[in-house]
Amino acid sequence: EAAKLTIDPAFEVGPVERRLFGSFVEHMGRSVYTGVFEPGHPAAGPGGLRRDVIELTREMGVSVVRYPGGNFVSNYDWEDGVGPAGERPTRLDLAWRQIETNAFGLDEFMTWTRQVAAEPMLAVNLGTRGVREACDLLEYANHPSGTRWSDLRVKHGAREPYGVRLWCLGNEMDGPWQIGGKTAYEYGRLAAETAKAMRRVDPRVELVACGSSNSTLPTFASWEATVLEQCYEHVDYISAHNYYDPAQPDRASYLASAADMEAQIHALVATADHVAARLRSPRRLKISFDEWNVWSQSLFGGEHSLDWAEAPRIIEEEYDAAAAAVAGSLLITLLANTDRVGIACQAQLANVIAPIRTEPGGPAWRQTIFHPFALTAAHARGRVLRLALSSPVFPTERYGEVPALVATATHDDDAGSLAVFAVNRSETPLPVQADLRALTGLARAEHLTVGGGDPAARNTRDAPDRVVPRPAPGAALSGGRLSAVLPPLSFNVLRLS
Ligand code: AHR
Repeated sequence: EAAKLTIDPAFEVGPVERRLFGSFVEHMGRSVYTGVFEPGHPAAGPGGLRRDVIELTREMGVSVVRYPGGNFVSNYDWEDGVGPAGERPTRLDLAWRQIETNAFGLDEFMTWTRQVAAEPMLAVNLGTRGVREACDLLEYANHPSGTRWSDLRVKHGAREPYGVRLWCLGNEMDGPWQIGGKTAYEYGRLAAETAKAMRRVDPRVELVACGSSNSTLPTFASWEATVLEQCYEHVDYISAHNYYDPAQPDRASYLASAADMEAQIHALVATADHVAARLRSPRRLKISFDEWNVWSQSLFGGEHSLDWAEAPRIIEEEYDAAAAAVAGSLLITLLANTDRVGIACQAQLANVIAPIRTEPGGPAWRQTIFHPFALTAAHARGRVLRLALSSPVFPTERYGEVPALVATATHDDDAGSLAVFAVNRSETPLPVQADLRALTGLARAEHLTVGGGDPAARNTRDAPDRVVPRPAPGAALSGGRLSAVLPPLSFNVLRLS
C-alpha cells in the first residue's frame, strides 16, 4: 500500500522559520570543554575554539545557539566567566556536580557564535538569582557603554554591544531537580518582573518563559496555564522541552516519537491561547521548543553522583541509523508547525546527546542525527506548505495506530522549487505517490536518503561515514505526479525543480 500526498502551493502553513534550526551548548560534560573549546588542540584557533567543530556547525546550518544551560544556568554566576582568564574563579556546578573552571564564558561564546554564523540565545539564572542579575547581564551584553556593566564589556575587548535578542527566563523551573526550582505561581511572578525590568534595559529583547520540562510530568499544561496567567503580556514565547527514549519496551512507540511532539505542540498552543482568551489579549505567543532530541534517558542515572570531575564524559549517546529517522521526524514536525513554533534547539551540539562528536586532542565527526538536520536546514526554503496526506499505519502501545509517513514540504516561490522532507518510520519500504499538478514547471526529481540499511549502524571515530546521505534510485516525476520508494526507517529529501 502506498502513502499518498497532495501538494498545492495555495495551502501554506507559513514562512520557513530559520530559528527552527537551533542548537544548544551547555556547560555540561564535554559540550563546552573539549567540545567547542579546547585550547592546545591542533584544530584550535587563537581563542581555543575548535575550528573543526566550527566547520561542522556551519555545515549543519545551525541558526541559533542556546547557552549556557540547561540546568547549569540555575546556579551560574555569569560574572565568573568574563574578564582575564587567570582571574576567573573555579566553582562547583551543582547541576551536574562538575568542576567549572570558567575558562569559557559569555565573551568566548559570543566570539564563537560569530564564527559559526548563528544567533545567540542566552538563558538567565532564575534559580539562585533574580531580576537584578538578569538586568546586569543584559546591560553587559547589550548596552552601548558608559555604565558599570557595559564599560566592563568594553574593557574586556568588546567595544560594540552584542545586541542579543533572544533570552530564556531561566530553565526548567518546574523540575524537582532544578537548583532553586519554583512553584508555577512563584515562577510566573518572577518571570513577569524579570521580563518587565529586562525590557527597560533593552526593549528589543524577545523573551521565553519556561514551560514544562516534558509532556509526561503531572503538572504539564497546568504549569503553563498558571505561569502564563502571571506573565503572558510580558513574554513572547513559552518553552517546550522533550527527549525521546529509544530504551522503551515498545520499539514502535519510540519510532513514533513525533506523535508525542505533535501532541505537545497542540496542547501548548491550546493552553497559551486559552490564557489569551481569559486575559482578552489579542497577542499570540509562539513556542520555543528549545530542547529536543533522542536520548536514552532511562539509562542515565549515575552521573549525578559524579565526584567533581572537570569535563567528564556524560551522556555521550552514540546514535544509530534508526535515531536519525526519529530525529528527522521530530524536525519535520517542528517545521510543519512553523506558524506556532518560532524557535527550536536540538539538545545539544557537541558530545552531550549531540550530532557532533569529538575526542580530546583528536578528531571531530558527524553522528547519524547530523544528516537529517543538515539536509533540512540546507533545503527548507520559502514557505512551508500544508499537505494532504494519507499513509499506511502501524500499531504502537503509546499512541495507537500511527501513520508510517511523516512529511512536510517547502516551496521556494522565487526559484520555483519544492523540497519534500519525509520519514518512513516503519520497518518496511514505503512507496509514496505525490500529486504535484498544482505546481507548474517541475521537471526534475532528486532523492537523497539517510538510513534504510542496518538500523543499528552508527558513525564512530574509526568509521565516521557509515550513515551518510546517499542518492536513492527510482524517484520519477511525470505528468505532475511523483513516485518514490522510501527505504525502511529512513529520512528522505526529495528535491524537485
Ligand atoms: O540537555 C540536558 C539537560 O536536559 C538540560 O540541562 C536540562 O535543561 C534538561 O533536563
